[in-house]
Amino acid sequence: MQRNYIEFLLDESLHKISWDSNQKLKPTTTLLQYLRSLPNHKGTKEGCAEGDCGACTVVVATLNNQNQLSYKAVNSCLIFLPQIHGKQIITVENLSQGQRLHPVQLSMVSMDASQCGFCTPGFIMSLFALYKEPGTSTDKDIQYALAGNLCRCTGYQSILNAARVALKNKGRDKFSEKEAETIELLKQINREPALFSTEQQHYFQPTHCSDALELKQKYSNALLISGNSDIGLKVTKKNELLPLIIDLSEIQELNKIIALPQGVYIGSNTSLNQIKNELKESYPALHKILAVFGSKQIREVATLGGNISSASPIGDTLPVLMAYNAQVILRSVSGKRNLMLSDFITSYRKTQLRPDEIIEQVFIPKPEENRFYDVEKISKRTDLDISTVSAALQLKIENKQIKSIQLYFGGMASYTQTANHTQDFLKGKPWTIDTLTQAGAYLEKDFAPISDARAQAEGRMLFAKNLLLKFWQNHQKNQHHD
Ligand SMILES: Cc1cc2nc3c(=O)[nH]c(=O)nc-3n(C[C@H](O)[C@H](O)[C@H](O)COP(=O)(O)OP(=O)(O)OC[C@H]3O[C@@H](n4cnc5c(N)ncnc54)[C@H](O)[C@@H]3O)c2cc1C
Ligand code: FES
Ligand code: FES
Repeated sequence: MQRNYIEFLLDESLHKISWDSNQKLKPTTTLLQYLRSLPNHKGTKEGCAEGDCGACTVVVATLNNQNQLSYKAVNSCLIFLPQIHGKQIITVENLSQGQRLHPVQLSMVSMDASQCGFCTPGFIMSLFALYKEPGTSTDKDIQYALAGNLCRCTGYQSILNAARVALKNKGRDKFSEKEAETIELLKQINREPALFSTEQQHYFQPTHCSDALELKQKYSNALLISGNSDIGLKVTKKNELLPLIIDLSEIQELNKIIALPQGVYIGSNTSLNQIKNELKESYPALHKILAVFGSKQIREVATLGGNISSASPIGDTLPVLMAYNAQVILRSVSGKRNLMLSDFITSYRKTQLRPDEIIEQVFIPKPEENRFYDVEKISKRTDLDISTVSAALQLKIENKQIKSIQLYFGGMASYTQTANHTQDFLKGKPWTIDTLTQAGAYLEKDFAPISDARAQAEGRMLFAKNLLLKFWQNHQKNQHHD
């Protein structure tokens, strides 16, 4: 028997939703829609319904491998109900203890950090998640935590001040008192694979990779989802009915980072935030791009497999992974195959993924000694904005000359591509600002970018040329730093 229900903790008690014939909720009903249908959870607001404003932020507490709770702020507008199975959902209504406000609430009130208040629950929840993160929180941590929350009236200074005060003395709170009880309740929840079926939809939630592969072989037209930060918009913005889904998010085998001497294997389900935190020292250019990828709420759920599979011309992890010579490991019931990421993506949003395959892992070889890896992203805003143009570099200099160079650009063609003419020109030349200025002309042979809402073609070309100069500048700083 497959599980046909989800169970989760809300308001300190276990809730169950079964998909039997009476169930009105769809498997693709979002957590936000569900919360707002309840009498006591209207504090979670709907602004954009696409991950851009943070008004819907709630905190999800999950049991980690050591059976400890980890608290993450997420956008409830992009989470389908089955994705909350086995977790604790905490909304703004849950924070106070009777009349006693939680320290983050108290600080926001006493420091006048709210005017109309529409955005305030989202800010509170992002700060609450940071309050529950172990260790001290720096100003940078606060900025990262709040980058996904928009406020249109208060202005950010008072919010940042309130955050600093609240996070200065993190202490025990009502959730710490209840932690042992919460862990026990979550441990009781059945983690079997599930199928949620209604007249119009079938939503599979396997818990092992082998089961997911069998499902994919049987239902090759099923839509895979992992973090749902891309696919969720099909429901919330395009009102599509997704008839057949295989949700990979409960497969723990796909959620691992394995570091070996030859490189790192990243499970396709690993969240971008985890990758950002764990690979900061070993793959600094990857860390750099992830720091400006979406918002913290998006990175908590968005996965590497999802970003690669989307094969967007402005997918932010693609240029840098290609510069690191990353490979994708694809798996089906018939076996595994490895492809260079640069070969995996074949055209606009097209990949070599076969209908019965999933991306299992991404392998990034250990960066070679004496090579410089870098990445840059140009977007209208620093945070929570998609790229207009991005570029990544792998460079080896010997005797002040360019021994080898790889350049990959996003936003310059229908998919992430290497700049062959520019690379050929640069090989063997001195690594100087003059050479890189001259190289700009070769980018015109490599790319014929389009004009769209984000930039004109001429603008994109200029950005790309300037990114070459930026790489030179970054390299100089890096040498100086060394
Ligand atoms: C507000 C907002 C901001 C964003 N900012 C950025 C940004 O700055 N940069 C950027 O590049 N993107 C951005 N995105 C897009 C999105 O977050 C990323 O592409 C993300 O990495 C997708 O991962 P996911 O796990 O959420 O994918 P999902 O939505 O679950 O899936 C995306 C695609 O991948 C497929 N897929 C998922 N897992 C697998 C697998 N294991 N094997 C095969 N196929 C699979 C799905 O079928 C689907 O086609 C943003 C999105 C939002 C809503
Ligand atoms: S409603 Fe705007 S991020 Fe969810
Ligand atoms: S207080 Fe009004 S939007 Fe933030």
